[in-house]
Amino acid sequence: MTSYKDVYTSWKSAPEAFWAEAAKAIDWVKPADAVFDPDQGVYGRWFAGAECNTAYNCLDRHVEAGRGEQNALIYDSPITGAQKTYTYSELLEEVATFAAALQSRGINKGDRVVIYMPMIPQAAIAMLACARIGAIHSVVFGGFAPHELATRIDDATPKAMICASCGIEPNRIIPYKPLVDEAINLSHHKPDTCIVFQREQVTANLDHDRDADWMDLMQDMSARGERADCVAVAATDPLYVLYTSGTTGKPKGVVRDTGGHMVALKWSMENVYGVKPGEVFWAASDVGWVVGHSYIVYASLLLGCTTVMFEGKPVGTPDAGVFWRMIDEHKISVLFTAPTALRAIKKEDPQGSLLKDYDISSLRTLFLAGERADPDTIQWSEKLLDIPVIDHWWQTETGWTIAGNPMGIEHLPVKYGSSTVPMPGYEIHILDEGGHEVPRGDLGAICVKLPLPPGCLPTLWKNDDRFRDSYLANFPGYYETADAGYMDEDGYLHIMARTDDIINVAGHRLSTGGMEEVLSAHPAVAECAVVSVADSLKGQVPVGFIILKAGVDEPSEQIEAECVKLVREHIGAVASLRKVMTVGRLPKTRSGKILRATIRKIADGEDWAMPATVDDPKIFNEIEGVMKYHKVGAMPPTE
Ligand code: COA
Ligand code: AMP
Repeated sequence: MTSYKDVYTSWKSAPEAFWAEAAKAIDWVKPADAVFDPDQGVYGRWFAGAECNTAYNCLDRHVEAGRGEQNALIYDSPITGAQKTYTYSELLEEVATFAAALQSRGINKGDRVVIYMPMIPQAAIAMLACARIGAIHSVVFGGFAPHELATRIDDATPKAMICASCGIEPNRIIPYKPLVDEAINLSHHKPDTCIVFQREQVTANLDHDRDADWMDLMQDMSARGERADCVAVAATDPLYVLYTSGTTGKPKGVVRDTGGHMVALKWSMENVYGVKPGEVFWAASDVGWVVGHSYIVYASLLLGCTTVMFEGKPVGTPDAGVFWRMIDEHKISVLFTAPTALRAIKKEDPQGSLLKDYDISSLRTLFLAGERADPDTIQWSEKLLDIPVIDHWWQTETGWTIAGNPMGIEHLPVKYGSSTVPMPGYEIHILDEGGHEVPRGDLGAICVKLPLPPGCLPTLWKNDDRFRDSYLANFPGYYETADAGYMDEDGYLHIMARTDDIINVAGHRLSTGGMEEVLSAHPAVAECAVVSVADSLKGQVPVGFIILKAGVDEPSEQIEAECVKLVREHIGAVASLRKVMTVGRLPKTRSGKILRATIRKIADGEDWAMPATVDDPKIFNEIEGVMKYHKVGAMPPTE
């Protein structure tokens, strides 16, 4: 089979046979009773009855097969100057020892472990150690504030926390332990254990009974020769829970199962990314996001590649040539990053002159995801790098590509602005509000016919009802992606916008609803709205509008600044809410719904029509005036 069409058709005509074949690439402790069991779970479960272990498939099997001396993980930290490489044998040793340390602290199969780490190898070691003993990890992005961490602790109810003493941003060092302690103070659930990896930049105080030092535990385990064996879990058991923004301040706990995840990821490495075992694959993301889970840690190791952990930024660590230095130095074959990273490089070095210092001939393909890849950025990268630049579309919920250009099968012609075609496993339908298919080329809600393929979320953590309500209720028989778009005559998919209040800021998924909850908690704020405006670097950035309560004495500028601070403290700097504006009133429908989409269109200078239901049309002029005053809108450059 050589064409995408053949592969997609073969899946569609016999989905179970297709995934049964893909499952042969995984080592199972016990084979599945059924490739797909429609009677289990909310919409069915993949590989029901099978038993397996993800860490075994990522590490042990490669060592047993003679890959022990190959590099498994390269850590490169331009922010600290550190570099370290682990072979498969070395990584296995670290993981098995740390897994024993977890067991020594009473952590076992099914227990949750929250990991709050920067981009250091110990983050991957902690994740794989959990997988080894069947514990369920939940990694929280280091840019989130204690309140966000506390929300996740309360939902996941972990037995243990694992953190580093600090994260390092270009402009500051962030001590993590005080943030973790504050989160545990805020949360109702209290973990028994907190394991801290001390970095040389900051030494954390281990002053609670629950605290333990990573290195002490490791030395203790090594001295006693303790290494944990792989624990077999059901293919349908969760490997991890990853929280992602929903429409409220309460994030959704996306559950990833064990068996289907391995099958899908391994298939994707060879077929979507066109990589081979032994090659160096770099996903320039963060382990706190889904791309980091899937492609920094699991998929690369499942296939026997060398993965790369990069602790730095595309610009400023030290310059816009760092990506090219990484490719040259580590002989990277495939790079996967967010368009925003390339926009940052383009802004600093528009001619790509820093590239001249490096040999990037090892690089075969550049993949982009996480937000819409604007044609400008793709074309600039194609011209500079002279390799295929591939946009592909996926979500935290799916864990791997929904639509892409399957480079391992066939390099389909690129259409700028399209993330190409649906991958096997995904039957895409574009539906109108009534659930009817719209004609090709028409905009609609992008839905996936159930069942979702292996690797996608079977449910939300301990919340089947929220899973049904959020994803399955509006279009019975389908998974609602909450992305709107269209499919063209050639079957290419164009992702245009979210249908909910999720925004994408520098490739980070955030909820404007969550930010509104924070603003409305300010005692002087009567009402508020947060909308996204287009940004030339970050794609989108949020801006806030507040109406002050009657009788508030403080100057509005002071309250605006306090609101910005509040979002930073509650959600984190990563929210990038830098502008809050006081207005007299907000445009609403007669039924009281704030017309956020129209505000956004005005801000972005897009064509907009006066909503028929608007309460008072004059309010839009007022809002426009306020935005002009604050210099917000029509794509301002990031400060
Ligand atoms: N821990 C703590 N703080 C963090 C953080 C982390 N892990 N990541 C980001 N932040 C902070 C930043 O320091 C910044 O703080 P500041 O307001 O005090 O300056 C704030 O959050 C916003 O960060 P960010 O959105 O990353 O903006 P930036 O200006 O620092 O960098 C880019 C801009 C484009 C270079 C950067 O966002 C980037 O590399 N994006 C790619 C994202 C990506 O790979 N996403 C994964 C999807 S595939
Ligand atoms: P996340 O869950 O953080 O991966 O964010 C998922 C959302 O990011 C999707 O629902 C889309 O809105 C957006 N997204 C991701 N990749 C793309 C892409 N290639 N094109 C357009 N939007 C994308």
